[in-house]
Order: sequence, then structure tokens, then C-alpha cells
Amino acid sequence: MSLPDTPPSDATPAPATSRAPAGARPAPACTLVIFGAHGDLTKRLLMPALYNLAGSGLLDPGFRIIGVDRVASTTAQWRDGLTEMMQSFTHDPNAEFHAPSIDSAQWGWVCERLEYVQADFGDLAQVRALGEKIPGNAIFYLAVSSRFFAPVVEMLGRAGLVTQADGHFRRVVIEKPFGADLKSAQELNRRILAVLDESQVYRIDHFLGKETVQNILAMRFGNLLFEPLWRNEFIDHVQITAAETIGVEQRGAFYEPTGALRDMIPNHLFQLFGMVAMEPPNSFSADTVRTSKEQLFEAVRPIAPTDAVRGQYGAGTVEGKPVIAYRESPGVAPDSHTETYVALKLHVDNWRWAGVPFYLRTGKSLGGRRTEVVVQFKKPPMMMFRDTETQELPPNRIILNIQPAQGLTVEMGAKRPGPKMDLAEVQVRFRYGDVFAQSPNVGYETLLYDCLTGDATLFQRADNIEAAWRAVDPVLKAWAGNADGLELYPAGATGPKGADELLERDGRAWYPLDGV
Ligand code: BG6
Repeated sequence: MSLPDTPPSDATPAPATSRAPAGARPAPACTLVIFGAHGDLTKRLLMPALYNLAGSGLLDPGFRIIGVDRVASTTAQWRDGLTEMMQSFTHDPNAEFHAPSIDSAQWGWVCERLEYVQADFGDLAQVRALGEKIPGNAIFYLAVSSRFFAPVVEMLGRAGLVTQADGHFRRVVIEKPFGADLKSAQELNRRILAVLDESQVYRIDHFLGKETVQNILAMRFGNLLFEPLWRNEFIDHVQITAAETIGVEQRGAFYEPTGALRDMIPNHLFQLFGMVAMEPPNSFSADTVRTSKEQLFEAVRPIAPTDAVRGQYGAGTVEGKPVIAYRESPGVAPDSHTETYVALKLHVDNWRWAGVPFYLRTGKSLGGRRTEVVVQFKKPPMMMFRDTETQELPPNRIILNIQPAQGLTVEMGAKRPGPKMDLAEVQVRFRYGDVFAQSPNVGYETLLYDCLTGDATLFQRADNIEAAWRAVDPVLKAWAGNADGLELYPAGATGPKGADELLERDGRAWYPLDGV
């Protein structure tokens, strides 16, 4: 694809394909400064998201993107590399972004706004010089290793780039992992908030960019049907699962000191838990929603290590393909005791959820890929079908299907046709793809757009992050420096046996990984 070489003029029209969704206000003009321009995140997710946003017509003609990295490169080389990358997605159905073709006008619109700056963000003079390229509104996106989050924010502060003047905003987007435990998350917040106001900080959790995760709020609070039942009077327990078939692949160096608990629980799974269990906020404003979440997180009893199970995958077969053991993966110690699977039981000490356990599980190299929330109801108060063919009915369940199935499933009993009163379990399903036209989306579109328009509802506030770390801290401490209870499971299994026992002890069982 040939690309324009001229810088964009403010009159550059939106791409021919652009069509802003009805009611969505266009984002204001802004410079998006990406630290980590040559990184994986920029290539795999941010560029496809910007391409999709350009197609939606929501970006202002004055939108610009400055990529910053230490790598010696020019704007032309950066653009060419990204263009090649975008093209490669068209023949990789497994990429996060996959489209049959790349619209040249739409990608060209993004491309002509790209500028590469080779700079060391540890060098004050270079960061100051960067500031001269940024006239008004700016978002600084830290797509860099987490150890640089605080130093980059401090450097931006010293260079005067995050001072909001003349009605212009200056915002900073921070990726995960946000800290490695409660203490480091508190310290990171302290250093960031010494430079920025909380309203300038956008801590990303990419799960919140998923339509299906946002739908949890729409479903709970946009209908009368669910909320009256959404409490301990009717709900027996809740299961939150993020099961992955992929293993650690080439990410051993990151994963070894991290593990499944830190990688997934205080962020992604807690965000799902927040959406499912928070009290109805008074409005959909960022602080009201995040305060509701905070009240819930504060009600979570610190998790007892006896309510936590860890496992690590050994060699096995996933989806018919052989998988090497975690310990054989590049960057992983041969005697590693990093967990690749974790299951936990949460207790929530508030009026609504007292007595309702929330079971969370996540793992890599499992037999099935699914992210879902299963809300299991209690049995009806009276078994009026006692003397019929139907003695025992499975409980009602509402399953919020996050991925790969997207939608909602209700499991209930219905009369089997025929002369006898015999009930069968049936599923009522809503699937996004059956009802709505779907366009390729990597989840970062909403998050970038929200940051541009100043809506922090889908971003984590400092106190939300700390409360989640506080809940898991006893488990992290109990597991540090030992392998007690770490159970090996073969790749392709549903997890370690201990995870099944965690529920069996309570007379319950996990919802099967191949259930819906
Ligand atoms: C990332 C984790 O944050 O989320 C990965 O670091 C994990 O280990 C990924 O695979 C899961 O996200 P998704 O969107 O693929 O379910």
C-alpha cells in the first residue's frame, strides 16, 4: 500500500468509510504520544484500534500520533513497518485483529498522522524537546515495561508536559501490570499521584474494553428482570472463569516472576467480579461507578490461603497439538514453581452477598478457552414435582458469555412434550452475532475513545487497584518462595485436582469447560 508522505492538514477529511455511530460525540483534537512505539502492544492492538476508530469517524482531523522509542528509526520506516503489520493481519485468523482486507483510505488517514521520534525517556532534554511538538491536548500512552511507569510519569512532570493549561487536557494511560503486590501498587500510585491528579490517570484493564464485559452493566441495570434476584436470597454461588488454551509461549521472562494470580486476578477477574457484584451506582458517571466497585472490593474478606489453589501445567495435548511443559518453555526455570493456574474462593461481607461464595479460576494450557461468569441459583423452595418423573432438577443458571461465545445463556427447566410431567434442562441463548452486525474490534477502541473524551468509567481508580491487591495479598505472601501445594496438571486438562476439591468441599462443582 502506498502511503502519503505529507503531514496531515487540519482539513484532511475523514476516510471515505467513516460513519460516526449515532449519538457518539467526536473526540477532540489531540496528540497521542505512545512510549514504546516499537513494542508489541503498539503493533498488535493500538494500531488496529486506531484504524478501527478512524473508520468510525470519531477521530478529529487534528488527531496526531507520535511514537517514541529508543530504537533508531525514521517516521517513514515506522509507518512502513506498521503498514506491513496491518497487512499481515489479513492472513492471520488467530491475530487479535483480523479483517479480510485493510481499507487503504482508512489506514492512510491514520498513517499520515504518524510521526516517529527517537528518544530516551530518561533524558530530560529529549523529553522537553518532545514537548515542543505537542501544541494542545495530549495523551501519553505508556506502552512500556511496568518498571518504567513511575520514571516516565516523573520525567513528564519534570519536563512540564503534564501541566494542563489554557483549557487543554494532559492525560496518561498506564498499562498493566500495575504493581506486583499491595505495597508496590501503593508505592506506584504514590509516585504517579505526586505528579498527576487522579483525573489525569487512565489505568487500563483491557477486559473493560470488551463489549461483553460492558454488557454486564447494561444487562443488570438496564432491565428489571435480573436485579431483584441478584442477591443471597436467590443466588447460591457465582463462578468466574478465564480459561485459556494458550500457554506461556514466548512470554516466560515476564511470566516467571508474575504467575497466574498476579497476571489475571486482581485486575481482569476482579473487574468482572466488580461488574457482576457491585451495588447499582446512582449514575453512569466514572466516579459513581468506581465508588460502587470500591465499596464491593472493600467488602471482600482477605482471601485465606486455604481458599486458594495453584497449579502448573506439564506436557500434554491442547486442541490436538502437543504442548511442552511450562518448565521447558523459554525463559522459565527448570524447577520453576510459578503457578499457571489459580482457583480462589471469595467471601463478600455485605448485606447482598453474605453467604454467597464467589469462585474465581484462571489458567493457561487448559482443555477449553472460555471466559464467563456463571451465576447459579438456589433450588426452588418446594419440589412440587416430587411424585412425578422429575425428582431432581438442575439449578437455574445465568451464564454471562464473555468469550469466545459472546452473549448470555439461561439454563432452566421446561416440560418435555408428552403426557407425563417430566422436566428437562434447556438453554435459552442470546448471541451477539445473531442479533447485531459485528465489525472487527480489539477492545482498545472504546478505551482510547473514552480517554480522548475524558470518560474514566472503564478505567481503574487508584483505590480500586489497591483494594484488589489487598484481597489477594495473604495468598501472595503464603505462596512466596515455596512450592507448597503446587500441583502439576497436564496441558489440556481442566486444571489441578485441588481446584475441583475446593468446590467439592462446599458440595459444589465447576461448570464444565465445554458446557455452552
Ligand atoms: C493479559 C495477560 O493481560 O490478558 C495474558 O497478561 C492473558 O496472560 C490475557 O493471556 C488474556 O486476555 P484476553 O483478552 O486474550 O482474554
